Amino acid sequence: MMEGVQPTAFSFIGQLDSNNLEKLKIMTTIYKIFIAGLVLLFVGVMITSCTSTKDTYANATEVEDEFKIEKSGAQMWGEACNRCHLAPSPADYNDTDWTTISLHMRVRANLTEKEITKIETFLKSAN
Ligand code: HEC
Repeated sequence: MMEGVQPTAFSFIGQLDSNNLEKLKIMTTIYKIFIAGLVLLFVGVMITSCTSTKDTYANATEVEDEFKIEKSGAQMWGEACNRCHLAPSPADYNDTDWTTISLHMRVRANLTEKEITKIETFLKSAN
């Protein structure tokens, strides 16, 4: 009886029994999960890119600091130690004296640890 029926492009419709419908539902669910995953990934990338932009700025400041030409101990001695009195010559005192004077004048000149260390190193190296 079925001999005359030719298979057509729509023959599969007849095969959509409950078993295949179940598979179709599963495929649809997987597809939905996949789309949801893509959306989450997109949001994640957006958030990450915003955060890393901030980091880039932070790094830019760091890099800027790195390339700032730092003043040498001799330069700072000429500037800071001349403000209140003539900057004493490095040869005026010995290393031990310079250690004490540096402690004292750091407070007077309101210098940072780094600045006074550089000045002190210069004074001691040139006496
Ligand atoms: C804020 C002002 C001020 C600055 C800046 C300053 N000094 Fe003085 N310095 C003084 C004063 C005031 C005295 C007088 C003694 C004291 O205060 O005990 C003095 C005294 C000295 C003395 C002793 C002089 C002596 O004949 O006994 C030395 C050495 C000296 N300073 C070195 C320095 C050096 C090095 C620097 C730079 C790091 C410096 N000072 C920066 C105010 C300053």
